[in-house]
Amino acid sequence: MIQAAVEFQNVHYSADGLHILKNITGAFPFGKITTLVGPSGAGKSTLFKLCNGLRSPDSGEILIKGTSIDSYDPVELRRKVGIALQSATMVKGSVLENLELPLTLQGKKIDIEFALELLHDVGLEGEFLERNAKELSGGQRQKLSIARTLVNKPEVLLLDEITSSLDRVSQRDIEELIEKINEKYGTTMIWITHNLEQALRIGHFTWVMMNGELIESGESSLLKNPRDKRVQDFVKGEVE
Ligand SMILES: Nc1ncnc2c1ncn2[C@@H]1O[C@H](COP(=O)(O)OP(=O)(O)O)[C@@H](O)[C@H]1O
Ligand SMILES: [Mg+2]
Repeated sequence: MIQAAVEFQNVHYSADGLHILKNITGAFPFGKITTLVGPSGAGKSTLFKLCNGLRSPDSGEILIKGTSIDSYDPVELRRKVGIALQSATMVKGSVLENLELPLTLQGKKIDIEFALELLHDVGLEGEFLERNAKELSGGQRQKLSIARTLVNKPEVLLLDEITSSLDRVSQRDIEELIEKINEKYGTTMIWITHNLEQALRIGHFTWVMMNGELIESGESSLLKNPRDKRVQDFVKGEVE
């Protein structure tokens, strides 16, 4: 049996009287890449907020490496479970200043060797450190954003539509570096994408969510041959 990095047990979550997550039970296997797909509004991004403790369930349990999420210190949890978003927001200043932001917030500086290694991990040259972050291309900014989440050496990385605004070449670039990081550090990846080809290509496992429910999950090849009628309709024509 593969140990779960993150596990949901009968999790319900509501906000503003809206039942957003409905009885979610399932596991994100340790050290694997799980892709998370489903129509817009299915509750995918909300699920991420529960994974890093930004929101708490109404009922049910979330376990991180077998231990209840409630028993983690919130700061420690935010370090263990990193998140990268589509927007890849940068502050004014150099690549270095943006990269070390998670440490600056703790009153620390980044070790230059470590900074260079992280840039290397995401396929950026060392000379980028002095560049103005605002002048990077979309793909380069996303790489920097991923490097920044690695500063805290997370065990789990949540990736929310990180290639949605990128061209095809940059998308593939990011896919490759996520696979590389997964292999090098054993980081558990959970990747929300609306690109079903990508979900199939990059995922070891896939979750399909609809209307707040986990409809189907398993090896990513399920996308080619879903059991559930709703999932069949959802993937129709999108996956070869
Ligand atoms: N803070 C909130 N208050 C009320 N409704 C919310 C809140 N956050 C998300 N929602 C609603 O929850 C549902 C799921 O949203 P979301 O998790 O962003 O879906 P997805 O990421 O799958 O597109 C949507 O209907 C959204 O409008
Ligand atoms: Mg979303």
